[in-house]
Amino acid sequence: MMDDIAGVKAKILGQVADAADESALEALRVAAVGKKGEVSLMMRGLGKMTPEEKQVAGPALNALKNEINSALSARKSALGNAALEERLRAEWLDVTQPSRPAQNGTIHPISQVTEEITAIFADLGYGVAEGPQIENDFYNFDALNIPPEHPARQEFDTFYMHRADDTQPPHVLRTHTSPVQIRHMEKHGVPCRIIAPGRVYRSDYDNTHTPMFHQVEGLAIDTDISMANLKWTLEEFCRAFFEVDNVELKFRASHFPFTEPSAEVDIRCSWAGGQLKIGEGDDWMEILGSGMVHPKVLEAAGVDASKYQGFAFGMGIDRLAMLKYGIPDLRAFFDSDLRWLRHYGFASLDMPNMRGGISG
Ligand code: PHE
Repeated sequence: MMDDIAGVKAKILGQVADAADESALEALRVAAVGKKGEVSLMMRGLGKMTPEEKQVAGPALNALKNEINSALSARKSALGNAALEERLRAEWLDVTQPSRPAQNGTIHPISQVTEEITAIFADLGYGVAEGPQIENDFYNFDALNIPPEHPARQEFDTFYMHRADDTQPPHVLRTHTSPVQIRHMEKHGVPCRIIAPGRVYRSDYDNTHTPMFHQVEGLAIDTDISMANLKWTLEEFCRAFFEVDNVELKFRASHFPFTEPSAEVDIRCSWAGGQLKIGEGDDWMEILGSGMVHPKVLEAAGVDASKYQGFAFGMGIDRLAMLKYGIPDLRAFFDSDLRWLRHYGFASLDMPNMRGGISG
């Protein structure tokens, strides 16, 4: 009997030590100390023993059962720890890793410059207004004091939309952002201070013209606005935009049907060594058209021109981008050449603002 006990003990403890996982261990427990397990059956055999045999075998079997139970629970907790270790190793996660792959897209120079212009004018208290690119010819022309027979209609190289019949109002691809002046005043009234950036279209194509390009309109209307305010505003804008302190602007008398008086604005620059420098040298470059909004334009937008007046200006965003970032050919903007975009592109998370530096 005692030999049996020693044999069973060695066998079962060996199996416990070798159990690969908790379910194998449970099967061993049932087979050894479960109701019909090997040790339980041996204990049942006690009843048939003599009292002397019982005295020896009883405690030995109890000790065996205890030993097996404690081996089982020791192995069980060892397996539990190992399983936890394994999970911790397999489910490891570096929470300091970026949640997305490194970004490799860039911002197009036109978007960048639009954001820069918006940030500068936002700082001066201007909101942003928008209008449709397919425009009714009333807004693109008539309301801006360009009646049908006006020669300025020819100057614009307008794209006309197809019309089903003559009863439809003619539509055009807007030739400038000025129609947004009318739409904004009609809808929101005056006083107002807005810029309106966006796409415009003219049938023209060479290295300084593309059939689609970008303008930004400016409009400030109130009861006491003068040409002096226009000049200050544009100077302030150019200083911030070109990031040079000594910008110098020249207001050249000009003509637009929608402003009176009108001025085209040139900026002092130098082309020495083929490199453009703003604010120095003896060259002047035209950068925008401007003037005091014509009373007829105010009236067309439902504004009382005897009480209100103000200024408007329109500048080419593409042109400003070429000047600021030294881009020689306008057509490159629209080639979708990734190498070009990466060369001029701007990091997509750098938003221009007046404090962090306007060009990032
Ligand atoms: N709309 C004019 C153009 O496209 C620019 C302009 C806007 C001039 C506002 C004066 C005032 O040429």
